[in-house]
Amino acid sequence: MVSRRNMIACGIGTGVLAALGYRAFDRGVFSAGQGEAYRAWSEWQGIAGEMPAKRPIHAAILAANAHNTQPWIFEPGEDAITLYADLSRHIGTADPFRRELYASLGCALANLKLAFPDYDVFPARQWNHDRLEISRDETPVAAQRLEIRRHDVGATVELFPALRHAIPHRHTNRGPYRPDRQLPNLGDIFYASENGIDGVAIFDPGAKRELGALIVEATERFVADSEMSADSARWFRTGRKEIERNRDGITTDTAGLSPVVNAVAKLMPDQNAETADRYWLAATRDVQIPTAAAFGVIFCTDRLERDQAIFAGERWQRSHLWLTTLGLAAQPLNQPIEIMDRDHQLGRSNDYAKDIRKIAGVRNGDPAFIFRLGYGTREAPASARRRFGDVLMRNRYA
Ligand SMILES: Cc1cc2nc3c(=O)[nH]c(=O)nc-3n(C[C@H](O)[C@H](O)[C@H](O)COP(=O)(O)O)c2cc1C
Repeated sequence: MVSRRNMIACGIGTGVLAALGYRAFDRGVFSAGQGEAYRAWSEWQGIAGEMPAKRPIHAAILAANAHNTQPWIFEPGEDAITLYADLSRHIGTADPFRRELYASLGCALANLKLAFPDYDVFPARQWNHDRLEISRDETPVAAQRLEIRRHDVGATVELFPALRHAIPHRHTNRGPYRPDRQLPNLGDIFYASENGIDGVAIFDPGAKRELGALIVEATERFVADSEMSADSARWFRTGRKEIERNRDGITTDTAGLSPVVNAVAKLMPDQNAETADRYWLAATRDVQIPTAAAFGVIFCTDRLERDQAIFAGERWQRSHLWLTTLGLAAQPLNQPIEIMDRDHQLGRSNDYAKDIRKIAGVRNGDPAFIFRLGYGTREAPASARRRFGDVLMRNRYA
């Protein structure tokens, strides 16, 4: 016969399991990467019956972007697409000049051009060679815009179909890589031009160690800066409902944790910014840097010139797509550049640009983007994307 004590224990056990089950459901332990927030990844080629100018926008919104802020608004027209900056979607003191915001638009532009090669950026660019300034402007949609227009030269030969096909498979991989697996020749993707402006891959063990140390130092400075830490934490999204509501930001699923650690992390109470920063610093120092097979740096002439920031983003998106076609994983590690901007904002001196040039072995150029690459040990998950209707400027076509 079942004793009363056993029945109570059984009841409590069932209750605990039910509570744990609900918590697991609520926190999305079993639904990582699933649901409406991830729908965009399967609609990257557009939706049947849509107007032509809307279709490439589905590919554009899958682009890499700082902290998954998705700071873009698109206006589809009859023969043109206009891309606006949404200046309200920024990471504050972690990007005081909104350089990363414009780089994010560059990433979207790269996808847009690949998705519809018969479109081109209209030569009369409305964003001139102006320098970015410390942003106080919170206007949702910047007056500046880029116009992407259809050529009238007839059929276009698509030069890089493989890059276009990689668009829905490209994801930022923050997990461990396999540092010893031989990399293919990356000369076609990264090359330093004579004056050192463009992409450079860093394989040399000594140079890798030095750049790794610089990235860890910059991460330490980032987490020690309470404003940068708080502004970054504003984009952390936890729990299934929060992700479904916002469809943006950084989530536990995309942090590069093993499946078990990820499940445990999701079941635990939300971390405050300080605890999250501690894990971030440890992951950077103990996993991401030591397992990188190589690092890369994208240089430009002046990272705080708006066009150059956009260009650096385009360059990153195309590089990441190339790496994806080769089965390689990649992750931006831009902490040193973020600290360079922060020091510039606060009028402090900073030698990182000089140090990075020396490590990369180039004479000139302003470092605009740093990343690591290698063969991943696990697949990177997709990150959330905003509703399509929410990134369209309302007009008679949208
Ligand atoms: C300008 C820029 C800076 C970025 N910096 C970092 C970084 O320092 N560390 C990192 O892990 N990811 C970084 N990312 C990657 C974004 O967080 C990522 O693209 C975004 O969360 C969307 O995820 P997805 O690339 O997997 O689609 C950066 C991306 C861009 C465009």
